[in-house]
Amino acid sequence: MGMVKDKARLDWKNLPFDYINTECNIRYYYKDGRWSDGELVSDEMISLHMAAPALHYGQEAFEGLKAFETAEGKIVIFRPIENAKRLKRSCERIYIPAIPEDMFLEGVRKVVKANAGFVPPYGTGASLYIRPLVIGVGGKVGLGPADEYIFIIFVTPVGPYYKGGFKPVKAIVIEEFDRAAPLGVGDCKVGGNYAAGLRGRQFHIDKGYPIGLFLDPKEKKYIDEFGTSNFIAVQGNQYITPDSSSILPSITNDSLAVISSDMGMDIIKRPVQIDEIENFDEIGAVGTAAVITPVTLINYRGKDYNFKDGGNAGPVITELYNRLVRIQTGDMEDKFGWLDVVE
Ligand SMILES: Cc1ncc(COP(=O)(O)O)c(C=O)c1O
Repeated sequence: MGMVKDKARLDWKNLPFDYINTECNIRYYYKDGRWSDGELVSDEMISLHMAAPALHYGQEAFEGLKAFETAEGKIVIFRPIENAKRLKRSCERIYIPAIPEDMFLEGVRKVVKANAGFVPPYGTGASLYIRPLVIGVGGKVGLGPADEYIFIIFVTPVGPYYKGGFKPVKAIVIEEFDRAAPLGVGDCKVGGNYAAGLRGRQFHIDKGYPIGLFLDPKEKKYIDEFGTSNFIAVQGNQYITPDSSSILPSITNDSLAVISSDMGMDIIKRPVQIDEIENFDEIGAVGTAAVITPVTLINYRGKDYNFKDGGNAGPVITELYNRLVRIQTGDMEDKFGWLDVVE
């Protein structure tokens, strides 16, 4: 399939963060110790053996990244090599055979190209979300890694994660439930973490907070991360982010740290105690979906902690957000070489 130039007729400015069917997805099959070539298919369904290890034992890993259209009409994918590396790490941890980085990149580029008509136009604030996933398939009942796997990459056009885009939110610390164990898989993007996080998610929603902050699962003393995004804090000239073995290494966080450093800030990655929050000037929840969500209040043990930003998105977080979004859409020089242009 070639580059589909005609744009799908969607209401680009009002897209939800949800699944919309596109032209096609790409699939690779692992059997007898090797991966097949990628196959573009329009079928949204997959047929699985009911005893597939992915279904019972959660042998599944996935990724999330985005493609954008630039002002010149080019399609660019943001740092796909980093997602390839992270998926490789996730796979190793749960005994899924390695997905070579080249195969990952080829698959992502091909599926984006074949769905070019679904890449939201420049200036709409929307983007094409790319979701690679790999599952252990084939019938097997005893616990053990699968013998066969399917690697799929689908895409779907999405609007901003939080309605209204860059808007401050309030968060609550979740101490009642953990999403990850100290030596578990919290640092991998595997499905089980998200199932484990659903109870904590319901907890913060029930309490009226759009996001929840998890603490370290061992001592409940240090900040880990939000349900689907990393924690960053700005204090004076410092960009502070937790160092912990149970959080997902966020590519957005890494990118923002590079931008901050370029702006002359000091990057501090260290264990961050929850008791320190009152010292911070600005706090952000960072990840692919929302880039940065400014967090202007954190409720911890019944007490509200506010930051120097006075309930508005703070200046540093606003600047970081603007710079990253401008790099992603080609409005600012890609000086760190993050954009993969789809030819
Ligand atoms: C648990 C968790 N933390 C952090 C992130 C942010 O990672 P990234 O910036 O690579 O999207 C994600 C995914 O978006 C996530 O699921």
